[in-house]
Amino acid sequence: MRIGHTSLAVIAIGLALAGCKAGGDNPGLEYAPNMYHSVAYEPLSQVTDTTAGAWVNALENPSVKGEYFNSNYFNGKSTFDRKSPVSNMREPAPHTVKRNAYGWLPYRNKRVSKDSIDLVVAGMKNPFDSTKALVAEGKVLYEYYCQHCHGKTGAAESKIATKYPLGVANLTAADYSEPHIFQVITHGAGNMGAHGSQVSPDDRWKIATYVRTLRKK
Ligand code: HEC
Repeated sequence: MRIGHTSLAVIAIGLALAGCKAGGDNPGLEYAPNMYHSVAYEPLSQVTDTTAGAWVNALENPSVKGEYFNSNYFNGKSTFDRKSPVSNMREPAPHTVKRNAYGWLPYRNKRVSKDSIDLVVAGMKNPFDSTKALVAEGKVLYEYYCQHCHGKTGAAESKIATKYPLGVANLTAADYSEPHIFQVITHGAGNMGAHGSQVSPDDRWKIATYVRTLRKK
C-alpha cells in the first residue's frame, strides 16, 4: 500500500512538472510572481516589452494603471508613457563636465602661434607643489619624452638639435612659465610637434616643473 501512495505522489508531481511550460523567455505559470521578481531598476537598460508584467500596479503612482518590470517612469519624461518606454539611466546633472577614461578634465586651449602661448595660458596654475619627489618624477618623464631633442641639460645639445636645422629651443636660456611649457607639450609650438596624446596632463605639469629647474640664472 505504501508503495502505491509513493508512486501516486511521484506521478502527480511528474504531471505537475510536465504541465509547466517554463523555458526561454516564458517563465511558465507563476504564483505571486512579485514575490520572486526583483523590481530593482537596471541602469542603462531600456524596457522594450510593453506587455510584460503590465498587470503589476505601480506603487509609486496610483494613477498609473499598470507598470511592467524594470520600468521607471520618473526618468527621462515627466509622465509615464507606456508606448515609448525610456532608459532607466538618469540624465547627468546640469553643467556636468565629461572626463575621459582616465578621469582627466579636458584641456580646452587650442594650438596657437608661439607669440600667443602666454596669452592663452594666462591664469593657469600648476596644481602640483614643486617637491623634490615631483621634480625627480619630472626628470624621468623629461628623459622619456624630451631629452632626445632638447638634450640632457636642456641646452639643445642633442644630436637632433645639433645636426638638423630644427631650431630646437634652449630650455636653459629662456624663462618659460610652467603653463607655457604645459601648452607646448600639449599642442607643440612652431617646429615642435604635439605630445599631448603621449603625456598625461599630470605628467605634463611634472615635466614643466622639472624643466623650470634646468634654467641657468
Ligand atoms: C622631436 C624633437 C622634440 C621633442 C621630442 C620635444 N621638443 Fe620641444 N621643441 C622642439 C623644437 C624643434 C622646438 C622649437 C620650435 C620652434 O621654435 O619652431 C621646441 C621648442 C620647445 C619649447 C619652446 C616653445 C616656445 O614657446 O618657443 C619648449 C618649452 C619645449 N620645446 C619643451 C619641450 C618639452 C617639455 C618636451 C618633452 C615633453 C619637448 N619639448 C619635446 C623639438 C622637440
